[in-house]
Amino acid sequence: MRILAIDTSCDDTSAAIVENGRQILSSVVLSQTETHRLYGGVVPELASRLHTEAICGAVERALTEANTGRSSIDAVAVTCAPGLIGALLVGLGFAKAMAFGLNIPLIPVHHVRAHIAANYLAYPDLEPPFVCLAASGGTTAFIFAKDYTAYRFLGGTRDDAAGEAFDKTARVLGLSYPGGVQIDALAQSGNPSAFRLPHPELADNPLDCSFSGLKTFVVNLVHHAEQTGTPVCRQDLCASFCSTVADMLVPRLIEAARMCKVKTVSAAGGVAANTFLRKRLETACTAAGLRLCLPPLSLCGDNAAMVGAQGYFEVLASNTAGTDCNAYATMEI
Ligand code: KG4
Repeated sequence: MRILAIDTSCDDTSAAIVENGRQILSSVVLSQTETHRLYGGVVPELASRLHTEAICGAVERALTEANTGRSSIDAVAVTCAPGLIGALLVGLGFAKAMAFGLNIPLIPVHHVRAHIAANYLAYPDLEPPFVCLAASGGTTAFIFAKDYTAYRFLGGTRDDAAGEAFDKTARVLGLSYPGGVQIDALAQSGNPSAFRLPHPELADNPLDCSFSGLKTFVVNLVHHAEQTGTPVCRQDLCASFCSTVADMLVPRLIEAARMCKVKTVSAAGGVAANTFLRKRLETACTAAGLRLCLPPLSLCGDNAAMVGAQGYFEVLASNTAGTDCNAYATMEI
C-alpha cells in the first residue's frame, strides 16, 4: 500500500510517500525556521500562512521524488492532532481534498503516534509491544505501545515538555531558535558535572517528571550571573543541562520497560536527537539487557514519513475518516 503523508503540525511543511508502513520512497521537509527565528519562537499565524504557501509544492515534490503518479496513491494520511490548530488545518484541508478527489481513504494520524512510528521506518523488524520515550517541543511522555494502534500513557511531564526547556534555556543563553540543536553542539565541549541542576522526584507516579523547575533554575542562574558580572561557561552549562535531562528521562524509560515487562525500548521526537540522551540510553539499555531503537536524526524531528508509517497501521485497523474529520490542538494518544 502506497500512502501520501502530510504533516503541518508546527513549523515544517512535510510530505512523503511511504510504502507498506516501512519504506520511505520520498520525504520532503520544508522548514520555516528562518522566519520564526526572527521572533525567537514559532508564531502560529505565520506558520499557517507559510504552510498554505508551501503545501502544494511539498506534495508535488514528494510525488516526483518517489516517481509516483497520483493514480498510484492508495490513501492519504495526515496529522490531525495535537499541534497548532491553524497549521494542522492547512494539512488536513489539503489531505481531505486529495483523498476526495482521488476517491481514496483519508487517514487522520495522531502526531505522537507518528513520532513513535518513526521507529518502524528505522527498524523494519520492530513490532509492538515496546515502550517509547516521546520527547519533542510539546510532548514528554512514556508510552506503552501495546500494539500498532493501542497505547497506554505511563507517565510524563506535569508541566513543560523537555524540548520547551531546551528552547527556553537556549534563549536565555542568547542562542537562536530552535535552541535544542545548539545546546547539544555547545555541550560537546563542556563539563557535564560543572553545574548541579535540579531534577525533582515527584510523588504518586514514578514516571512523571517536571521540567519547569529546571528551566527556571537555569534562567535565574544566567540572570544572576549577568547582574553580578560573573562569567558563565556556556559549554559547561549546556553539558550540565543535557546531562540533567538525561538523568530525568533515562532511568524512567528503563523503569517503564520493567513495569510493562518488555525487552525493547525506543525514543522518538526532536529531543531524541540529543547526543547526551542517545549515549546515556545506549549505556543504560546495554546494562539492563534491553534492545534500544533510536531513529536516525532525520526521523526524530517532524516529518511526514513517520505519518505515512503510522497511517499504514491505522488503515489496517480501519481507522479512516470522512471529510467531516477535524483537527485538534490537543488529543490523548
Ligand atoms: O519533534 P519536533 O521536531 O517537533 C515537535 O513535534 O515538537 O521537536 C522539536 C524540539 C525542539 O524543542 C528542539 O529544540 C528539540 O526538539 N531538539 C533538540 C535537539 N534537536 C531538536 N533538543 C535537544 N537536542 C537536540 N539535538
